[in-house]
Amino acid sequence: MADPQLSVRDLTVRFPTTRGTVQAVNGVSFELEQGQMLGIVGESGSGKSVTAKTLMNLLPRTAEIEGSVMFDGQDVRQAAADGRDHFWGVEMTMVFQDPMTSLNPVKKCGEQIAETIRYHLGQSKSEALAMAEDLLGQVGIPEPGKRVSQYPHELSGGLRQRVVIAMALACQPKLLIADEPTTAVDVTVQRHILNLLDSLREERGMSMILITHDLGVARGRCDDVAVMYAGRIVERSATETLFGDSRHPYTDALLRSIPRIDQPSHTRLDPIPGRPPELINPPVQCAYAPRCRYAQPDCLKSIPEAQGVEGMHEFACHHPANTDQGREALAANVAAGRNASGMPVAGYAGTGGF
Ligand SMILES: Nc1ncnc2c1ncn2[C@@H]1O[C@H](COP(=O)(O)OP(=O)(O)OP(=O)(O)O)[C@@H](O)[C@H]1O
Ligand SMILES: [Mg+2]
Repeated sequence: MADPQLSVRDLTVRFPTTRGTVQAVNGVSFELEQGQMLGIVGESGSGKSVTAKTLMNLLPRTAEIEGSVMFDGQDVRQAAADGRDHFWGVEMTMVFQDPMTSLNPVKKCGEQIAETIRYHLGQSKSEALAMAEDLLGQVGIPEPGKRVSQYPHELSGGLRQRVVIAMALACQPKLLIADEPTTAVDVTVQRHILNLLDSLREERGMSMILITHDLGVARGRCDDVAVMYAGRIVERSATETLFGDSRHPYTDALLRSIPRIDQPSHTRLDPIPGRPPELINPPVQCAYAPRCRYAQPDCLKSIPEAQGVEGMHEFACHHPANTDQGREALAANVAAGRNASGMPVAGYAGTGGF
């Protein structure tokens, strides 16, 4: 089999701070095939952006990085160390949550895109401006000829994000990383932008990493999903497998916290109780255990290793959901009224408890 386009192995990122060392990413591994879309999903602070920024070489110099990142046969970390930065912004680009972090407020939209084109591809000014207008049309901006000479503040949030996407596409990237690209826009615009990204990916044969805290956004769009918790990937599989046969109790809890189309709209969703753990001096235990409905005493003694089928469906849990072992653990906790950490555990209403 051909090598995947992107291969991340045992990535670890730490930030020394005055309060101690933040263990932001802990042994993250995943692969991405050319043309595929991977979703990275998890709550705030789980390490999604730090992972993306490592790929893009955007971390501050103080970050301590270990592990390997191979992109298109090139060692990304070695390239960064050698000062070879030719593929960032060209072959690998990123779209951020807030379009204004990528846009210059005092420059016309067309000029900003044209500048990227000229910088990386060396076109003449008029050629680059024509390409910019064409790109604005491709990302579904009405009247692109007029928009090229508008400033970012003259556009709505949704149009601004499209301008940023146009800029990211300017150099025909092979991989586009979209980090919560729709958090700043309303739900309808969100759907349009996600659909746009998806169709651009298909047209261009691009690969994509879609970062989101909303598992529902990954459904129907991503080929694979990696669920992150406290700097680790706790479950990774094909999207359909994750939705139909999840193993990690955290994934299970995320699934219960999103609206489902087969449920009446007034169905109560179950938010995940508690907060993610501290990433400075975390205890040696499953990081999710204090909030986990399944947690048993062994979950407080060691960090579970990944199990399952490598590259197909992997999960790091001592008592996986949707298995006999998991069902037993949950039943014991429901009977006791609490998990091994003392968190109250009640049965789910209307499901016989489980
Ligand atoms: N430069 C930095 N110095 C110290 N800690 C940092 C730095 N950058 C990120 N962190 C910490 O690393 C952890 C992971 O952050 P990250 O931004 O990757 O989270 P995230 O999953 O993207 O969350 P969100 O959904 O809020 O964007 C957090 O605890 C964050 O505070
Ligand atoms: Mg983030």
